Order: sequence, then C-alpha cells, then structure tokens
Amino acid sequence: MRKNIAAGNWKMNLAFEEAKSLSEHVSNVQVADGTEVILGVPFPYLEQIQKVIASNPGVHVAAQNCHQEAKGAYTGEVSLGMLASIGIKTVILGHSERRAYQKETDELLAQKVKAALQAGFKVIFCCGESLETREAGEHFDFVEGQLRNSLFDLEAKDWKQIVIAYEPIWAIGTGVTASPEQAQEIHAHIRTLLKNTFNEQVAEETSILYGGSVKPANAKELFSKSDIDGGLVGGASLKAADFEQIIKSF
Ligand code: 13P
Repeated sequence: MRKNIAAGNWKMNLAFEEAKSLSEHVSNVQVADGTEVILGVPFPYLEQIQKVIASNPGVHVAAQNCHQEAKGAYTGEVSLGMLASIGIKTVILGHSERRAYQKETDELLAQKVKAALQAGFKVIFCCGESLETREAGEHFDFVEGQLRNSLFDLEAKDWKQIVIAYEPIWAIGTGVTASPEQAQEIHAHIRTLLKNTFNEQVAEETSILYGGSVKPANAKELFSKSDIDGGLVGGASLKAADFEQIIKSF
C-alpha cells in the first residue's frame, strides 16, 4: 500500500543552528509504521541535517531542487551526482515558487525528473493552479496538463520513485487552505489520471500529498480523505511542535 508522508519544505529559511535544533526535535518524534517524514533542507545544510536525523529510520532529508545536467559550466547549480555523493536520495521538483521565480517550465521539469529517476532519486513532484485558473474553473485541466507535460511519458515502473504534491498556489503561505473536499476531488482526479495513463497499480501505490497552509488544526481532516496521503508543509514545518503534531495527524 502507498505510504503516508509528512514532508516539510523549509524553503529559504532558518540559520544553521535553528535548522539543527528543529531537526533534532523531529528526529525524536516517533513515526508510525507506514509513515515517512521528509525534510526539504537548503543545500548547505543537507549533509549535517542528514546526520542529525540518522538515528530515526522514519525521517529522511530531501534537496529542494537539482540541475538537469550531470556536470559542467553551470555556476551556482547543484547536480544530482553531487547530492548522491553526500547520500541524498530525494529531491523536490516543480515547486510553484521555482516555476514562478526561476521560470521553470514543464519541459525543463520533464528533463529534471528524468535525470533524477535515472540517478535513482525519489522525486516529490509539485503541481497546482493559480487563483485565476481556479476561479475560471480550469484547475482540473491545468493540473492535468502539468502532469502530462512533465511525467506522462515515463514508464509505469518509474512511478515507484515518484510522489505527487498538489499545491494550489492560492493556498501557499496565505493561511487559506483548500477545503478537504476541494483537495480530495482533485487528488481523486489525479489518481484516476494515473490509472488511465499507466495502470491500477501505479494509481493505488503513488502517494499524493496536499500542500498549502497545512497546520495542526487542519492536518487531521485533510489526511483523513481517502486520496490525500499526507502533506507538503511550508510555514508550519519550521515550528517543531506544529510539525510534530502534523506528523502525528495520520
Ligand atoms: P505553506 O505551508 O507555508 O503554505 O507552504 C506550502 C508549500 O509551498 C510547501 O511546499
């Protein structure tokens, strides 16, 4: 069966000492069987935070991005090989902030996903619509397009390495959460797409996370929905007690 996942995305936050004490706290949380905790850590801290959480087999770290090429003259970029060489095995790709600020396109993300899968990484692939798209009633088609353009020419076997995070842009960092019903209906749609494009097994075994103002007060209800397998959490993952409560919300 698919896993429950509580993933924190720290984004560009926390000084090292803060990151260390937060991850020490997380490493002491008892993670239920069938649940996985993932911390999306800034590049400079990955190796050290990985050591901090090593005592807890239920907790892992992820990079927040990677470059699509193996190496070369790409100043400021980080390759999958570099990440692998320090033991990192998971990467977040396609976050709406990278799509918006770094102009990452579906096509570029398709390249990054392929490179990551080839390098043996697990990918948390983000998708989600803007408020304008939602208000126009085009969110199902929009999200479907994102997935189709970046993921749908993969093979069924590749899906063992993929987690989808549905993160409506209008709910990120705004305090406005998609209602559990709104999130459930689009998660169910995504799962149906996986079934129709790949097969039943891919649909049933792929974890689909919700992201966008997840907090202790709403995590339980969101995670209780049949097609919501956890959360990708920004702000609340920076607060030890809040993230602990979210981890315990399954
Ligand atoms: P918030 O939880 O702060 O809304 O952020 C969500 C997010 O972007 C996680 O990747």
